[in-house]
Parts: sequence; C-alpha cells; structure tokens
Amino acid sequence: MKAMIATSYGPPEVLEIQDVEVPQMEKNEMLIRIYATTVTAGDCETRRFDMPTYVWLPLRLFMGIRKPKRILGTELAGVVVKVGSQVTRFQKGDSIFAFSGFKFGAYAEYVALPESGIISGKPRNMSYEEAAVVQIGGLNALGFLREANISPGHKVLIYGASGSIGTFAVQIAKIMGAEVTAVCSERNFEMVKSIGAVHAIDYTQEDYAKAGEYYDCVFDAVGKDVFFHGLQAVKKGGCYIQASPKFRHILYKPWMQLLKRKRILLMPPTETVNDLEELRVLIEAGKLRSVIDRIYAFEEMIEAHRYVEKGHKRGNVAIRIVDDRGEEDGGQA
Ligand SMILES: NC(=O)c1ccc[n+]([C@@H]2O[C@H](COP(=O)([O-])OP(=O)(O)OC[C@H]3O[C@@H](n4cnc5c(N)ncnc54)[C@H](OP(=O)(O)O)[C@@H]3O)[C@@H](O)[C@H]2O)c1
Repeated sequence: MKAMIATSYGPPEVLEIQDVEVPQMEKNEMLIRIYATTVTAGDCETRRFDMPTYVWLPLRLFMGIRKPKRILGTELAGVVVKVGSQVTRFQKGDSIFAFSGFKFGAYAEYVALPESGIISGKPRNMSYEEAAVVQIGGLNALGFLREANISPGHKVLIYGASGSIGTFAVQIAKIMGAEVTAVCSERNFEMVKSIGAVHAIDYTQEDYAKAGEYYDCVFDAVGKDVFFHGLQAVKKGGCYIQASPKFRHILYKPWMQLLKRKRILLMPPTETVNDLEELRVLIEAGKLRSVIDRIYAFEEMIEAHRYVEKGHKRGNVAIRIVDDRGEEDGGQA
C-alpha cells in the first residue's frame, strides 16, 4: 500500500510516499481502507518533533529516536474491508470515522485498528473529508467544555475560535446553552458567527481581557494567548482552559487556582468512543458541522503541511485518499 513516510524529523519535505506492507490485523482488529485523513497543527508538531519539555523524552522514545518509526496521522474516515474473528461491533463494508491516537497510521491507504478504539459509524450527512476532521477538534472541545460545567446562560469566550478546536468549541458551547464570544481575526468573523458566536473580537485590534467583560469560561483553543492575560477575564468561580499547555502552566496552576479562586483546565480530556458517538448524534441532528478550509490530494501532503504550519487555517484541512464518489476496492487489500 502507499503510505506517507516521514524520513526524519524536520520540515514538510521529510515526507515521502513509499510502498509499505498492508498492516497485519489481530483477531480483535479490523482493516480499514482510509478514504480521508487530515493535517493538524499537532501533526506538524509531531513531524518537527516540537514537543513540550515535560513529554519530550518519553515521546521521543515512543516515536523513534532518530526518525519516526510510525506512519503519522491520527484522524481518518473510511470503510472497513476486513474484520478479525473477535470483532462484533463492525462488519465489512461499514463506513466509519476514527481517531487512531497513539497508534497513528492514518497517512496511508490502510490501517488496522482494534474495534475497542475511538471508532464510530460515519455520520450519514457528512462526506469522508468532513467526517475525518471531527475527532481532534470535536473530542477536545467537548471534553474540555463538559469538564468546565458550561450551563445555559454562561458567557464563554473562545480564543482562537477559527482553528480546529476553536470551530468545534464555538458550536459545542452554543449547544450547551452558552452565549459565545469568538476571538479571531476579522476575516473569520462571518464564519464564526455562522456557527454560533454572538460576538466576535479581532485579536489584532482589541484586547478582550481589558474590555471590562468577565466570562464564566475563557478557552484558549489555539495556545496563543498569555496565561495570566486570559485568567483576568474569568469571573471568580469560573474556568480557564488552555488546550496547549506549557510546563510553567502546570506549575502555576495550583497557586493560581488558590489565589484567584478560578478553575484551570490544562490536561486534554481522555477521548472515549461514547464522546465520538455523542458528536455523531449532534452532527446527524444538524447541530454540529465541520469547517473545512482546504482539501488536498494524498500526493499534495507536503503542500498541506506547509499550509497548516503557517498557523492560519480556517477550521480544518483534509486529505482525500479515495474520492467519496469513487469506487471502493472491494476489500482487495
Ligand atoms: N490539548 C490537546 O489535547 C490538544 C489536542 C490537539 C491540539 N492541541 C494543540 O492545540 C493547538 C491548536 O490546535 P488547532 O489545531 O486548533 O490550531 P489551528 O487550527 O492550527 O489554529 C489555526 C487558527 O488559529 C488562529 N490564530 C493564529 N494565531 C492566533 C492568535 N495569536 N490569536 C488568536 N487566533 C490565532 C488562526 O486564525 P487567523 O488566521 O485569524 O490568525 C487560525 O484560524 C496546537 O498547538 C495543538 O498541538 C492540543
């Protein structure tokens, strides 16, 4: 099968299409023909190996000392082409969307995943590309906002509202009944309002933390805000969420929580299949959608990485491996 291999850690040009073996399947696993995958900010950080200090060594040992020993990519949508003898949840021909997490492997034509993984039936009203981009943004936004106990009437500010986590956070906070303020650049005002934001603030023109408004929750969904800055706009008893925490944030957290009487959430929620199911239900009910900026062909992966790395994508970037309307391979893996 074709796979996008990172020949070393480094710039997008380290990526190269190679022919590799189709993954071996265990009894509890299924083989998935990947129709679409994604390029996320996290993929670029993994490719460069740009990791926070506190996880650098264990992750490097896991990923490979001199070069990545795994095929990158964690989000995918596709079709089950073979199931192991112990698999009961899915059958051959099922359309699914999945988060492969530390198994990675989504930058390829096929991946083998355990049926107990973060996998659900693909939302019926989405293309494979739209379904592939849901997992990281959707699961992180849902997990963090649930942990923050967002309730109807709460005022929630999403910083970096136009990114992958941000676009899902705006929609999910609104579904939870919050009044959402989106912080993004002006070119994205129309988009964030179309998905549920009531107010929009241009981070290049205005400092939201000095505007005299206080929020039940401030969610830095892109990791570009300054910790103490965001915290000052949170009401007493409210919550500050940082999706991309630095080591110093972990050190500050207990002191800041005590002194300021505000909750601070830094650790990403553990992804669960129930949460993916919840997202699927919201999507099929027409309450949640994917914002896609660009779709690239598999062969254009380097170009896609160059684009995402600039840090200004609108929502998500998908990679089309098999055309939605194309023919399946009939499970000839
Ligand atoms: N905690 C976790 O579990 C977890 C999971 C996944 C990812 N992450 C991390 O979260 C970070 C963001 O991920 P993402 O994929 O959501 O980001 P992303 O989609 O790459 O973010 C791009 C968006 O950020 C906006 N942006 C850029 N600079 C900004 C600034 N200074 N202020 C406000 N908005 C700005 C851009 O809008 P403009 O064009 O308008 O600037 C663009 O729309 C990454 O570092 C990633 O590793 C954490």
